[in-house]
Amino acid sequence: MNDAFMDQVLSFIRANRQRFLDELFTLLRIPSVSTKSEHQEDMQRCAQLLVEEFQNIGMPVVELHQTPGHPIVYGEWLQAPGKPTVLIYGHYDVQPPEPLEEWHSPPFEPTIKNDELFCRGSADNKGQLFIHVKAAEAFLKQRGRLPINVKFLIEGEEEVGGEHLEQFIVENKQKLQCDAALVSDSHMFAKNLPTLVSSLRGIVYLQVDVQGPRQDLHSGCFGGAVQNPANALATVIAKLKDDSGRVLIPGFYDNVRELSATEKSMLASLPFDEEEYRKELGVKALFGESGFGVLTHVAARPTLDVNGILSGYTGEGAKTIIPAKATAKISMRLVPHQDPEEIMAATERFIQQQLPPGVAATVRRFHAGKPYMAPLDSVAMQTATKALRQAFAKEVVYLGEGGSIPVVQSFKEQLGVDTVLMGFGVPDENLHSPNEKFNLGHFYKGIEASALFLEGMAQH
Ligand code: BES
Ligand code: ZN
Repeated sequence: MNDAFMDQVLSFIRANRQRFLDELFTLLRIPSVSTKSEHQEDMQRCAQLLVEEFQNIGMPVVELHQTPGHPIVYGEWLQAPGKPTVLIYGHYDVQPPEPLEEWHSPPFEPTIKNDELFCRGSADNKGQLFIHVKAAEAFLKQRGRLPINVKFLIEGEEEVGGEHLEQFIVENKQKLQCDAALVSDSHMFAKNLPTLVSSLRGIVYLQVDVQGPRQDLHSGCFGGAVQNPANALATVIAKLKDDSGRVLIPGFYDNVRELSATEKSMLASLPFDEEEYRKELGVKALFGESGFGVLTHVAARPTLDVNGILSGYTGEGAKTIIPAKATAKISMRLVPHQDPEEIMAATERFIQQQLPPGVAATVRRFHAGKPYMAPLDSVAMQTATKALRQAFAKEVVYLGEGGSIPVVQSFKEQLGVDTVLMGFGVPDENLHSPNEKFNLGHFYKGIEASALFLEGMAQH
């Protein structure tokens, strides 16, 4: 395709910004909260809307696959024989909006303020996945064809670590066969600083339930005679990490990969102000495993964190009891080459060993996802670099990400392909928390970058 044609595609994108935004609003208004059964209908509606969206832009094959959980939407355009095939992944499910009282505008009513679009799902991930849909539309409407073969795979269980997508991938390897995957569900290092993600952390998430007496007991009548499950759980949690933040589970660090000299210098070259970061987060001091900088803590070191803890009386005033049980939800973020299964087993063993006498613990397992490392020298990465550089008129940076997108490693293992992680969010966009937002400039430039990427891939 010649430059003049590409100019037309980019002009189409610029001329249709308002309509693209209006269409995104319709998608955002559906409260597709995957974790809550009361939103099951909304999940179906949201998937259906995406099906219609793909049909409207002119995708010849569009399918809605029901699963025992939430549906998967699949669309393909494969009319460029001899050209590469790119698999574009996104998720239409969102995190619950609570706490509602902290939102400045209704969570599912898209609201624009100073060039930012506030709404649950605006950045994570509806706004970002929509970028690629609109880039595809620009080609289809301007020319009636895409520069390369494209497959869209949009799921509804990302935020709950669902297993049905994994199953779908395993069962549809042929259908999903491609040369590279493209995912926009990550961050740019800073506003208007185009970023490609070089690694993602993996995750293990578990729940520990500590059981004590048959029911809550009077803490005076029985205190001292029985083990308190809340104290016991606190004891166990305290033994998981030392004061410097190092995880104490035996074998935890065995397979942790150290950063290469190149990776270290890439991190060091990023424009980062530690004090500003500290203030932004509202903490007294930053904290982390000694011997590493803040960016390394997030990008390349594994962690263990309590995500939630519950036991006994937490209402107003005082109530004197020894609680019958105590629960904690614990996550570990993993880095290459830690194995989630091994870490899970080691953690479970360690928790049982450290448990004080007189109580019993069960460990329930939620999601497990593998970490991912992206090759920086692949054709797709090089093409993405050029596309981003052109769209944002700035040099691209490469960054290890602390978050997890487990499907990316599945693409690697099941389909044999690497993924370009071309995210358009920024870290202050309140993902998973009140007042989630998405930068409109990033939305529009993202569409151009996506179009340039598809066009660039056609050259290979
Ligand atoms: N988009 C995020 C992951 C992310 C955020 C990657 C920022 C890079 C930068 C994704 O939707 C997410 O939240 N993933 C979960 C995965 C988990 C539920 C298995 C996460 O990281 O907690
Ligand atoms: Zn998320």
